Formats: sequence, C-alpha cells, structure tokens
Amino acid sequence: MSVQYNPGLEGVTVARTEISHVDGKNGRLVYRGGHVIEEIATRSYEEIIHLLWFGSFPSSEELVAFRQQLAERRHLNEGALAALHGLPRGVNPMDGLRTVLSAQGAQPGVGRPSIEDAISITAVVPTIVAACFRRAQGQPLVDPRADLGHAENLLYMLTSQEPETARASWLQSYLVLIAEHALNPSTFTARIVGSAGSDLWSAVVAAIGTLKGPSHGGATPAAAEMIEAARQAPSISTFVRARLERGERLMGFGHREYRRYDPRAAILRDLCKSANPEFYETAVALEETALNELLRRHPDRPNFTNVDYFAGGVLAGVGIPADYFTCFFAAGRVAGWTAHVLEYVGQDGRIVSPASEWAGPALSPVE
Ligand SMILES: CC(C)(COP(=O)(O)OP(=O)(O)OC[C@H]1O[C@@H](n2cnc3c(N)ncnc32)[C@H](O)[C@@H]1OP(=O)(O)O)[C@@H](O)C(=O)NCCC(=O)NCCS
Repeated sequence: MSVQYNPGLEGVTVARTEISHVDGKNGRLVYRGGHVIEEIATRSYEEIIHLLWFGSFPSSEELVAFRQQLAERRHLNEGALAALHGLPRGVNPMDGLRTVLSAQGAQPGVGRPSIEDAISITAVVPTIVAACFRRAQGQPLVDPRADLGHAENLLYMLTSQEPETARASWLQSYLVLIAEHALNPSTFTARIVGSAGSDLWSAVVAAIGTLKGPSHGGATPAAAEMIEAARQAPSISTFVRARLERGERLMGFGHREYRRYDPRAAILRDLCKSANPEFYETAVALEETALNELLRRHPDRPNFTNVDYFAGGVLAGVGIPADYFTCFFAAGRVAGWTAHVLEYVGQDGRIVSPASEWAGPALSPVE
C-alpha cells in the first residue's frame, strides 16, 4: 500500500460519527440529530450531555434523574485529594486537572469505557478545576452542592458564594458551545486511546494533555492576552501588522475546518457584549483590522474569527482568571471526548495506527 506523507492529517478522514458535524464551508456546527448550534445554545449543559451521549434530549423526568446522577458523583476520592495536595505550588492548572483526574480514575476495576465512567468523569472535572483553583489561592475546598445545576455548582465551588444568575447563565452557554466539535486534536487523542482498548479515564487524561497546547484550547488565554496587549498599544493596526511581521499568529483566528465565521464565535461575541463590555470594545476593533489583514495576506485560504477569540472575554466576565480558561474549556469538552470514545468502542473499534515514512539513512538492499 502506498503511503502519502500528510503530517497535519488535513483532509484525511479517520472517523465516522453521528455526534457532531463541522460544515466549515458554510460555517455550520451541527450536533447529534441535526441540531444546529444556534438552535440549542440556550439549553442546559446537562441536556446537551444527554443529547451527545444518548442521541436525544431528555424528557423533563429524565432530566431530573440525570441531573441527580451527575450531582451524586461530584466528590473527590482519597486518591484525588492526595494527588491535589501533592501538587507543587504554581503548577499549571491544566497539569493539576490532568494529574488529579488521573488519580481519581486510579481505582480497582476500571475497565472498558462505559456510560457510568462518562457520568463520573464529567461530574468530577468541575470539582477538580475548582479544587485546583481554591488550593492555589490558599483557600479551603468547597464541597459540591447537589441542589445546583452543573454550571452553577462549578461557580459555587470556585467562590463559595451562590452565583449570580447572569454569570451562571454565561458560563452555561460557554460550556454548551464548547461541549463538542467533531474531530479536533483532543477528541482525536481520546479516540486513539479508546481504540487501543484502554479505559475512559485514560482517554480523557490524554485529551486534556492535547487541549493544553496553545494551538488548541490554550488559544483562549493567548487570545485574551493579545487583546489586552492591543488595548494598551498606541495603534491597533500597527499592533496587528507588527505581530504578523514577526511571524506570530493572531490568536483566536483561523481554523482547520471553518472557512467562514465560526458560528460559536458569533454567539460568544453577543454574550461578550453583555458579560464584558470593556473587553468587547477592544476585541471588536482588533477583530476588524485582523480579519482585513489576514484576508489581504491569504485571500485563497481565508481565516476567520474562531471560538477562542471572544471566549476569554466571556469567561473573564463570569469571573474566571485567565490561567483557568483552558480548564473551563476541558470542563465543557469532556462531554464530547467521552461521547466519541463511547461511539468508537461501540463501532468496529479498530485500533488507530497510522504509518510513518522512513527519513533515516538509505537502507541497504534486502538480499
Ligand atoms: C488553528 C490553526 C492552528 C489552523 O492552522 P492551519 O490549518 O495550518 O492554518 P491554515 O492552513 O488555514 O493557514 C493558512 C495560512 O494562514 C496563516 N494563518 C492561519 N491562522 C493564522 C493566524 N491565526 N494568524 C496569522 N496567520 C495565520 C498560516 O500561517 C498560513 O500561512 P502560510 O501559508 O503563509 O504558512 C491556525 O489558524 C492558528 O494557529 N490559529 C491561531 C491559534 C488559534 O486561534 N487556535 C484555536 C483554533 S480553534
């Protein structure tokens, strides 16, 4: 079989999925069952997880039971608490999340990926994020509350205060928008781990490692940092051009799939206007210049605003510090990661094992 070298796997199809579809040409994101993201953006995060895992929205009775199931699994076990308290001060929050989640999953009897594991992992990720944050602040941990929804409880564990309705609603919208996005690098990572017959905890831990990268989930804080630097610059157009001339990317722009405005970015842009007007003002001014400049430089391969651009403004408006933005991305995307692994192992489950091209010294002919 001849093998074509394709380092970024662009245009290579490695999965068949019913979980979501990115129609990059038309700027559409479709979740299970054909629901476009604009149509479901105001649903609760629990409803979206249910859709992604089970293929349908829950009835109102099912939703009550499902919320309860998630709420019961929010507590850290002894292994996770020990791992948390063993973390060095100043550790990157994503490293903290990865480590503590791995410890929580180090239990006897963990086996093939199951919906039970998906519920346990998705329920506990917010607790770990909040615990890492509280510990880094030198504050006592806050026990989860079973009477609060997923997003509200996350904010409660972070601050120990009942969250304001508006903030909880912005966070919930963010989690919904970020919950799933077809075969991005971290989801692909999770599917590969699952394809090797490993467990769901390992798949999610590996996906967190991939998400941390600045070309993926790490772009949210990087975009917010860039917008803040632009706010302080004397001229936005000089700022943009200088950055591109130094060979630096404009964070929050460009996407492997979308050749139109990312539909999630359009919703986040609107949310940002209310959640963080100061950020919004600079971000909109910078966006216009950046889009013009990117289009001028790459007219045949246009790069538009992606999900990370306004996400930092919304999260900061919720009250999340920038070094935790990627952890919040993980807290949303865990639904998609787990859905994909469950789908993959339920299909033919063939191990993902691509080829490589030999680039070492010429081999001597075989006799
Ligand atoms: C997401 C990303 C990694 C996609 O990479 P990709 O598929 O290789 O990008 P493309 O093939 O569309 O790039 C086409 C051209 O536009 C340039 N380009 C793409 N995104 C750019 C950006 N954000 N800033 C400046 N130039 C960019 C590339 O350098 C490339 O130029 P070249 O042909 O001269 O090398 C890339 O757009 C990027 O690094 N964006 C910034 C980080 C970010 O926001 N990531 C979050 C993604 S959701």
